[in-house]
Amino acid sequence: MSRQKIIAGNWKMNKTPGEAVGLAQAIKAACAKAPKAKVVVCPPFTALAAVSAVVRGGAVALGAQNMHWEKSGAYTGEVSAAMLLDLGCSYVILGHSERRTYFGETDETVNRKVKAALAAGLIPIVCVGETLAQRKENQTDAVVSAQVVNGLAGLGADLGRIVVAYEPVWAIGTGLTATPAQAQAVHALIRGKLTELGGAALAQTIAIQYGGSMKPDNAPELLSQTDIDGGLIGGAALDAVSFMGIVNAA
Ligand code: PGA
Repeated sequence: MSRQKIIAGNWKMNKTPGEAVGLAQAIKAACAKAPKAKVVVCPPFTALAAVSAVVRGGAVALGAQNMHWEKSGAYTGEVSAAMLLDLGCSYVILGHSERRTYFGETDETVNRKVKAALAAGLIPIVCVGETLAQRKENQTDAVVSAQVVNGLAGLGADLGRIVVAYEPVWAIGTGLTATPAQAQAVHALIRGKLTELGGAALAQTIAIQYGGSMKPDNAPELLSQTDIDGGLIGGAALDAVSFMGIVNAA
């Protein structure tokens, strides 16, 4: 099964609209040579409109970093799937570990968001991953399995429209990376859970990204693993040269 690799930049709470436009222009220009991987940039909400205008019609897709599950209403500070679609987003990152840790997101709220995103026509990039303490206690498989099974419950055939990102929390922004073998083992576990949820044929089509200190130098080996279908890139996505180094490794 050959799945197209997908490299997504998660810009987190970085870049003003003006700064974001510069970065997006550089990535768009570098992607004019038709990269083999699918490329997605996920700026903060405040820069989505400006970046959308830059990437529209090109090879680079636009994603957001979060959304609410309700369509509209009294939810101060939140944005809906329809608002993201209107700005030209086709992807949305959901359940990132920083959202789980600092903003109280749970598998249940992630599941609501995933369903709302799919219903609206957005492709959710659903993040899962264990903490260092959980890994040390040999809880990795149990934690990641529960996040996958509960976060992706009840999707039916729409399961085939999602992207999963395995991001070990201890590797995010720390410079520590899972070894290719460690990552591959969890990716295979995730594909097994996706198989339980949607059957083997469907599970084989779902892209599972690795995230956590992926850089141009460690990307080739990570991306060559059987079940690693791309990357969700934080720090290295804030610079066009390092981001493109990863895109070109895919
Ligand atoms: P990092 O972040 O590449 O800076 O480790 C990845 C992420 O949080 O998506």
